[in-house]
Amino acid sequence: SAAEKGGYDYFMLKEIAEQPQAIADTLLGRLSERGEILLDEVRLTDQDLRDVDKVFIVACGTSFHAGMIAKYAIEHWVRIPCEVELASEFRYRDPILDRSTLVIVISQSGETMDTLMALRHAKEQKARVLAICNTNGSTIPRESDAVLYTHGGPEIAVASTKAFLTQLAACYLIGLHLAQIRGVMYADEVAAVVEKLRQTPDGMRTLLDRMEEVRELARDLRTASTILFIGRHVGFPVALEGALKLKELAYMHAEGFAAGELKHGPIALIDEGTPVVCVVPSPAGRGVIRDKVVSNIQEVRARGARTIVIAEEGDEDVRAFADHLIPVPHTPTLLAPLMTTIPLQILACEIATARGNDVDQPRNLAKSVTVE
Ligand code: G6P
Repeated sequence: SAAEKGGYDYFMLKEIAEQPQAIADTLLGRLSERGEILLDEVRLTDQDLRDVDKVFIVACGTSFHAGMIAKYAIEHWVRIPCEVELASEFRYRDPILDRSTLVIVISQSGETMDTLMALRHAKEQKARVLAICNTNGSTIPRESDAVLYTHGGPEIAVASTKAFLTQLAACYLIGLHLAQIRGVMYADEVAAVVEKLRQTPDGMRTLLDRMEEVRELARDLRTASTILFIGRHVGFPVALEGALKLKELAYMHAEGFAAGELKHGPIALIDEGTPVVCVVPSPAGRGVIRDKVVSNIQEVRARGARTIVIAEEGDEDVRAFADHLIPVPHTPTLLAPLMTTIPLQILACEIATARGNDVDQPRNLAKSVTVE
C-alpha cells in the first residue's frame, strides 16, 4: 500500500531515501566515543582474528560488488591478502582454505543458495566463517561461526540498494576492527577513518537532496541502446553495480569496465553519443588514480561518448570533459562508494520508471535465489 511505501511510489525510492539512516543504524553502538571499533558481538576471539593469514569474501549479485569494494579497504588497512569470489564459482574451484582463513560471506537475505553452499564448503575445510547479513536469524548467519548484522531494516524492492550500502559500512567496520586488533593501524588512524564514516550519512543526505538533475538526465537517456560505466580502484565495482542496477531495473544493455581496460577492447563500443558514466576518484592526496580516470574520460569523449561524470564537489577541472557533471560530497577514497553509488541507483530507477517498468518487481528476478 501507499502507506507502507511511506508516500513513495515504489519501495525502491523509499529504500534509496532511507540510506543515510540505514548507514547510521549499521554504525550504531559499534563505534566508541574515542573512535575505536566495538565489535564484541562478533563471536570470533581476538586470537582467531590475529591468526588470520588470508581473507576470502564470497557473495552473489550486488553483495558481490560490496565484497569487491571491501577487498580494497581490507588489504589497504589490514595488510593481509583478500580475495573476492562469486559464490557460484568459489567451491567448484577447490580453493585453498584452512583454520587461518577467514571467509566473509555477504548476503542481504541470508538465504541465497550459492552463498550458503560456499559457506558450508568453507566450514568443511575448517575455515572461520563470518557472515554479513541483513536478515536476523536467517540460514547463512545461523550456520556461520559469527555474524555482523547490517541493521538496514527490511529491503522489499528486489534489486538491492540500501542493503548494499550497509554491507559496505559493515565491511569497513570489519576491516578497521581487524586492523585495530592486529595493531597494523594506530588508534588515531582508526579514529580518523571512524570520524569520516560517522559523517557519511550527512553527506548522503545532502547528495540525495540534489538529485533532480540526475532525474532529468535519466528521462533523456531512457531510449539509449546501451549505457557504459567506467571507474578505477573502488570506482570499478561501483561502475559494475551501476550497470547491474540498470540491467535489473531498466532491462537495458549496460556494462561496467575498469577504466584502464578500455583500450584493450571496450573502447571499440564507443560511438557518437554513447552514454558513458564515469566514476571519478577524489583529487585529494596525490590524485594519481583520479588523473588516470580523467584521461580515460578524455579518450572516450574523443570517440564521441556523451560523458556523465560523477566527481567530488570542487573538482572543477573535470567540468571541461563532462557533458553532465554530478558532484558528490567529499569522502576519503575508500569510503567514496557510499556516495558515488547513489546517483547510479537514482539513474537506473528513473530510467526504468520512465520506460514504464515496475522497479520493485523486475521481470525474471527474485529477491532471494534459493536454488543453485
Ligand atoms: C538476487 C537479488 C539481488 C541480490 C542477490 C544476492 O539476485 O535480486 O539483489 O544482490 O540475489 O542476494 P543476497 O540476499 O545473498 O545478498
